[in-house]
Amino acid sequence: MSIIGSDIIKAKQFLQAGELVAIPTETVYGLAANALDTDAVIKIFEAKNRPLFDPLIVHVPDISAFERYATDTPAIAIELAGKFCPGPLTFLLNKKDIIPDLITSGLPQVALRVPDHNLTLQLLNSLDFPLAAPSANPFGYISPTTAQHVQDQLGDKVPYILDGGSCEVGVESTIIGFGDDKIIVYRLGGLAIEELKEFGYEVELRVNQSSDPKAPGQLKTHYAPRKPLLLGDVEGLLALYSDKKVAVLSFSKSYTGSTKCLSPSGDMKEAAHNLFAYLRELDAGDAQLIIAEKFPDTFLGRAINDRLQRAAAR
Ligand code: TXA
Ligand code: MG
Repeated sequence: MSIIGSDIIKAKQFLQAGELVAIPTETVYGLAANALDTDAVIKIFEAKNRPLFDPLIVHVPDISAFERYATDTPAIAIELAGKFCPGPLTFLLNKKDIIPDLITSGLPQVALRVPDHNLTLQLLNSLDFPLAAPSANPFGYISPTTAQHVQDQLGDKVPYILDGGSCEVGVESTIIGFGDDKIIVYRLGGLAIEELKEFGYEVELRVNQSSDPKAPGQLKTHYAPRKPLLLGDVEGLLALYSDKKVAVLSFSKSYTGSTKCLSPSGDMKEAAHNLFAYLRELDAGDAQLIIAEKFPDTFLGRAINDRLQRAAAR
């Protein structure tokens, strides 16, 4: 079992000793190790059972650290970082040699992000190395948004879980890269593309190419519960599966006695915050099948639909 606590010094000691620590962020919990120490980083892949071709995000305390780990950072990136960091946005930038190839799976770019969580920012500021951290779940399963979620699944693999409460945003960061004068979105996430568009640059979506080595985290089946999940028109699916014991995950309406409603008031931020925790609850419950409602394809609804589609793709 892991120790769960909010002791930054203890977390720091484990990390300095090359051990894993689960860390809270505003998006989901991460499974962290010293990004510059390959012996420590390899433990992340082992604990998650994650293939080595799936690169890791590197977490830094502030944007001034970007120039330590990346080079040729385009002006748009600096502009966006100034506006959205700390926050749920990850930047793909040309890596410097100090970043081990293991982190980037041999790719020429490194993913950098400044997480918006008080405890983790304090921890990062107290360390003289950045933290590599994928979501703290076994590969392919739903991401954790509480310390207990991490304990439930990786408790025997991580010595310390830094408990920072339940993650505010609830879905992973938006991942962007840059082309000439345009922003390329590789993963939909906690920062809505509507917000990126406000900068006046072209925003291109490249989120559905599961064979693109640039975004292996975009594998078609990901974020998956163990139970079958169907996404679409709830009424129609309920009629089709009337012989089964079904649980519904809805946006704001209540369909059956066993509906979990993500936001009764219809607030997409609240829905994203609850998404993974509710999916876990339904996965642990006694229904044979989960039926999820599709969200409007705007703002965080896009990231929620993306996660539900991948959860359904089995
Ligand atoms: O919100 C988040 O981003 C969370 C928290 C813990 O920060 N982290 C997270 O990490 O979601 P993970 O490993 O579950 O997803 C990271 C994805 C990879 O699967 C890959 O698609 C992309 O980021 N990525 C990371 N490094 C990359 C690189 N060098 N080039 C291309 N894609 C990269
Ligand atoms: Mg993940």
